[in-house]
Amino acid sequence: MASCYGAIDRAVSFRIPRAPGRIPLDPPPSPPDSSGGMPTPTMPESPPFHLERYFARWENTVSRQLSASDCRPLRVTDVLNWSKTPTDQLLQLRLGYTQSAGDPELRREIATFYPGRKDDDVLVVNAPQEALALALRAMLRPGDRVIVQTPCYQSLKQIALQIGCQVVDWPVHVDDNGFAIDWNSLHDLLHEPAAALITNFPHNPTGVQPTPDEWQHLVAKVEHHGLRWFSDEIYRGLAPDDVFELVPAACLTTRAVSLWGLSKSFGLAGLRLGWLVTGDRELRTRIEEAKDWSSICSNAVSEFLGLQALRAAKPLLAGNRRIIAQNGQRMASFARRNPGLVAFSPPAAGPVTMARVLSGNATDLATRVREKGSALLVPSYLFDMPDRWVRIGLGRADFDDALRRWEMAMRA
Ligand SMILES: Cc1ncc(COP(=O)(O)O)c(C=O)c1O
Repeated sequence: MASCYGAIDRAVSFRIPRAPGRIPLDPPPSPPDSSGGMPTPTMPESPPFHLERYFARWENTVSRQLSASDCRPLRVTDVLNWSKTPTDQLLQLRLGYTQSAGDPELRREIATFYPGRKDDDVLVVNAPQEALALALRAMLRPGDRVIVQTPCYQSLKQIALQIGCQVVDWPVHVDDNGFAIDWNSLHDLLHEPAAALITNFPHNPTGVQPTPDEWQHLVAKVEHHGLRWFSDEIYRGLAPDDVFELVPAACLTTRAVSLWGLSKSFGLAGLRLGWLVTGDRELRTRIEEAKDWSSICSNAVSEFLGLQALRAAKPLLAGNRRIIAQNGQRMASFARRNPGLVAFSPPAAGPVTMARVLSGNATDLATRVREKGSALLVPSYLFDMPDRWVRIGLGRADFDDALRRWEMAMRA
């Protein structure tokens, strides 16, 4: 199967625009040389995180989200009720430093979601984003050839670039019928030696996910080629049915590090709690040591509430799956009711996918819906894709109202 973006890139020229107000400046004058002739090491400059800047600019100016990647946000009282925890237990919590690797009870609870792995294989981290950065910095070296599934949440690629890796895209196949994993292109990419693979399933932003058989083949490839594998599983628990849930990569090979957390599947992004699991103890120790330089340990309130949420995981995730399924039907009937606007198919797994914009570009559509309907759509250029799709986030409980606002904006 031919790789998809090459053809589109040639047909439509697209560039992530420079963030407003970031005007290139002349470099400041050099300070006097105090290095004794030694070259001063420089860090590559970080570009803006385009998607996060977009949310920072617009998210709180609108009434509804059409592209959110998290499930309906819970309240503290919801977590306590779901897990039947007396409020007093939260009030009596001591707010001292917590343990470096994470609260032992929380790590034990997390390990129950990873068949064959133990609590010592788990590292609790402040926010999935921190987990991702710490793990990739521990796993990758400058010059490594690293295969990254694209389009992707920007940090999955950017951190490898900052480390000085040779980053090679593994694009999701896209055509008018939707999205598909391009196994042939991965096969071709592996004709040259690679050090590591970075994947994200269920996938943000396209919603693709391997079948359990394909997943086993991917594990076999990782083993065969001796790759280190960072498997971002942040949307785990949100497949339409248990049979489509993947066994975490870290349970299938010690070459993998699996990432999950509370933000998306549990609707607890404000707790900023994530975790890494790997059977590679030496690597896990190195990541834990790196955490001393970022946050040292996680926060006590998040660990406490996170433990309660995990104890209530079954009903909580089932509730979020139901919301995603219902919103998928609402979105499909919205697309039918408004012919010529967008083409939509539900994600294979997870809360997000992309709808194809049928006339005009995605940025103009998002601007109109934001200005006339007070609802936020994410255009696909923020994922370094041509500006022809908008991300659809199906996890929110008020999605039907968001769709009404979209329709209102189109009539205005
Ligand atoms: C694929 C993926 N990984 C990691 C993250 C980071 O999660 P968090 O924002 O909770 O730190 C996100 C957030 O959108 C994501 O989509």
